[in-house]
Amino acid sequence: MSQPPEPPRFVTLPEIRRAARERLPREVWNFGDGGAETETTLRRNRRHLDRLAIQQNILVDVRTIDLRTSLLGVPLAWPVAVAPMGGLVLFHPEGDVEMARGAGKADTLQWLSGATGWPVEEVARAGMAPQMFQLYHHGDRGWVGDLLARVEASGYLAVALTVDVQLYGRRERDILARWSPRKAMEIAPNPRGPNPEYQARLTWDDVEWLLKTTKLPVGLKGIMTVRDARRAVDMGVRLIWVSNHGGRQLDQTQSTIDALPPIVDAVGDRADVVVDGGFARGTDVVKGLARGAKVVAVGRPALWGLAADGAAGVARAFEILREEVRTTMGLAGRTRIADLTRDLIFRVD
Ligand SMILES: Cc1cc2nc3c(=O)[nH]c(=O)nc-3n(C[C@H](O)[C@H](O)[C@H](O)COP(=O)(O)O)c2cc1C
Repeated sequence: MSQPPEPPRFVTLPEIRRAARERLPREVWNFGDGGAETETTLRRNRRHLDRLAIQQNILVDVRTIDLRTSLLGVPLAWPVAVAPMGGLVLFHPEGDVEMARGAGKADTLQWLSGATGWPVEEVARAGMAPQMFQLYHHGDRGWVGDLLARVEASGYLAVALTVDVQLYGRRERDILARWSPRKAMEIAPNPRGPNPEYQARLTWDDVEWLLKTTKLPVGLKGIMTVRDARRAVDMGVRLIWVSNHGGRQLDQTQSTIDALPPIVDAVGDRADVVVDGGFARGTDVVKGLARGAKVVAVGRPALWGLAADGAAGVARAFEILREEVRTTMGLAGRTRIADLTRDLIFRVD
């Protein structure tokens, strides 16, 4: 006799967020949730998403809504990715491996953080959905070259160099608590603290070198201007990731949802564009796609899932988000990702 299915433990994203907050030590919650200095960038990402309205379109047959898309030619079940995040071991004892399991269950592209404490091979083995790798230049070229060879051999499908951590942002919640994620992260199986020296001296020469060194398509994460996006695609960069690091780096900068459209126009079909920063609802995802992103990456909501219930929590968070995307598209009268065009969105205040 088959049992009736268990009701899901969580039914909304805010419920998952609350559960994570209740479970985590205060310092860890603040490390994940917080931003730099006055947290204006953090709030602005959110506020500028909220000032966009979605057009309500009716009397379209929306029985079938197709969420499939691709990134860098890799087919994806839907246009959302887990953003790369370091320090996951603070949120769950199995950190990145557990995140890979959760992303796999939800058929969601996972970007593994270059600040991971786990061997890239082990995270690759745990993943069932496509995986891509985020690179930090934490060592000399020899060190990065060795790491890239392992990343390629383990089946990651692209590499994105994060370029907005020249210096570490002043995260005042952590500073005030006299708390640093570094020390706490030493419990990971393969502790490796960032070497700030290499990040601070990163320039376009290193991008040139990276393009020559890896066989994988290269992206840059942390692009916020048309000028930098143009320069990158001119060099052969194939993925432009519009990000201000979730408000954790430069305070008082532009929101990503507003930086996005001119960058999309400038790169045209020469690169795929990813966006992140405050996207935490299906409506947010639809806005990012309508403004031209190929994929929306999601950071903190994945953390909430991980902290609330490990891989099951991650999978549940993404299932709910996916259901929200589907509902939003249907109510907006659009049935395919390609139909999410800029005219679907307008500024209201
Ligand atoms: C706890 C935490 C750790 C992060 N670690 C990294 C990292 O290792 N590499 C990176 O490129 N971005 C990192 N980020 C930034 C995310 O990739 C992403 O840009 C940002 O979180 C998006 O905003 P959201 O959290 O509002 O979705 C981190 C973000 C958080 C919240």
